[in-house]
Amino acid sequence: MFLCDLCGERFKLKHCCTAEFEEILESHFSVRSATSAVQGFDLMSAPVSTIAEIGKHEGQSVTIRGWLYNLRESGKLLFPQFRDGSGVIQGVVPKNAVPPEIFDAIKGLTQESSVIVEGKVRADKRAPGGYELDVSNVQVLQRVPETDPYPITPKEHGTDFLMEHRHLWLRSQRQAAILRVRAEIIRAARDFFDSNGFTLTDPPIITPAACEGTTTLFPVDYFEEQAYLTQSGQLYIEATAMALGKVYSFGPTFRAEKSKTRRHLTEFWMVEPEVAYATLDDIMDLAEGLLSFLVKRCLERRRTDLQTIGRDITKLEKIEPPFPRITYDEAVMALQQGHAQGKLENKFEWGGDLGSPDETYLSSQYDKPVMVHRYPATVKAFYMEPDPQRPELALCVDVLAPEGYGEIIGGSQRMASHDLLLQRIHEHNLPEEAFKWYLDLRKYGSVPHGGFGMGIERAVAWICGLEHVRETIPFPRMLYRLYP
Ligand code: 4AD
Ligand code: MG
Repeated sequence: MFLCDLCGERFKLKHCCTAEFEEILESHFSVRSATSAVQGFDLMSAPVSTIAEIGKHEGQSVTIRGWLYNLRESGKLLFPQFRDGSGVIQGVVPKNAVPPEIFDAIKGLTQESSVIVEGKVRADKRAPGGYELDVSNVQVLQRVPETDPYPITPKEHGTDFLMEHRHLWLRSQRQAAILRVRAEIIRAARDFFDSNGFTLTDPPIITPAACEGTTTLFPVDYFEEQAYLTQSGQLYIEATAMALGKVYSFGPTFRAEKSKTRRHLTEFWMVEPEVAYATLDDIMDLAEGLLSFLVKRCLERRRTDLQTIGRDITKLEKIEPPFPRITYDEAVMALQQGHAQGKLENKFEWGGDLGSPDETYLSSQYDKPVMVHRYPATVKAFYMEPDPQRPELALCVDVLAPEGYGEIIGGSQRMASHDLLLQRIHEHNLPEEAFKWYLDLRKYGSVPHGGFGMGIERAVAWICGLEHVRETIPFPRMLYRLYP
């Protein structure tokens, strides 16, 4: 005998066996869910609405399905706040206006208990979403026990505690708003490329060789062959660009970085366009166009979320082309001046790569993203085209977001010469065998081309105005964080 944990009915057959059991089970469950639906209908006859769309039902009764976010009680009045993922709404429950069992079910109800609520939608100018719900009925699906309460309360919690409870922290309004902005940025990036003649081409995630340096590779045991998680799709989309002209990729990328900065994740998402016949200037125009489009879209569609997050929106309203473009040489001068004025701790010497404090300093000089181009080739990746005027420089660009956010885009014109590329592969001690196919692209109709990569999390951090990238992705992977 087996007991159904839904209704307590007994079964004779074993769970894992025959189709017959599945049939019984199916009929059992459909009967059960039909009953539940009938009961649900008896109780909640009003149409289901999300909280976000509740304004469409003003003056009518609706059913909302969600969780108890908060509860204020004042004598014979209860003010439960419900959330459903689309928003939060306050309910009003006067003791004398509802049956006693409804009042009792809400009274003392614990945070994050799951509930289905029926009530009449009433416009209220003072309510954050503009509406309140006069509750007429409630069904508690699961009551969070007092003995083991929801761990994230409205009081302040430390970051470690919140990260350890990330699976629950996501339910808070601010975190949900950030995820909605992230989704918008991703959708906007896709729309931007899709509507500008780009074809999405997905590069592999398991790769035989490095793209961005051998020190940050995550090894994968690939059937006794050494493989790595991809650091960037670039090399592969150079191949698809030679096939399709204008392409982009969007996917997860990995860096085994031992950096514990507020800008580094070990797993992050990158959107990468790659364009045949593009020069560095074309790439800078494209980056400028993309970033302006993303910000504009977020202002149009996610303004309320940005407000929930506490973003200073006036700063985003300034993001329009053209963006300032400075050379690496000019950046070095600005950094040295900053040092002379005591604004930077270390004196920056020509030839070095910009560190986080340097990028923060430079980007805080502008109210738009600044494009720093033509770095010394020695601090950049092996595949970059040298500047024909000064071959010690690479035709590359880093886009630094304003307000001190630092690099959000890195890109370049790619090396078109087969022989020089082969030489660079050797200089960087990369295995020639693994790059044979990449060299082929320079043997069969080589053309100038270029592209860039934008880290989604860095873009989200900037657009939302967040201190750290860890809040920009549901489950961040960092040097010391693999759980949950
Ligand atoms: O500058 P990166 O390393 O450039 C590339 O990977 C090129 N292959 C892209 C290309 O040209 N197609 O990385 C590009 C962007 C950075 O500007 C940054 O936004 C993000 O990826 N990024 C990271 N984001 C979070 N955590 C990390 N550890 C990151 N490393 C790079
Ligand atoms: Mg970079």
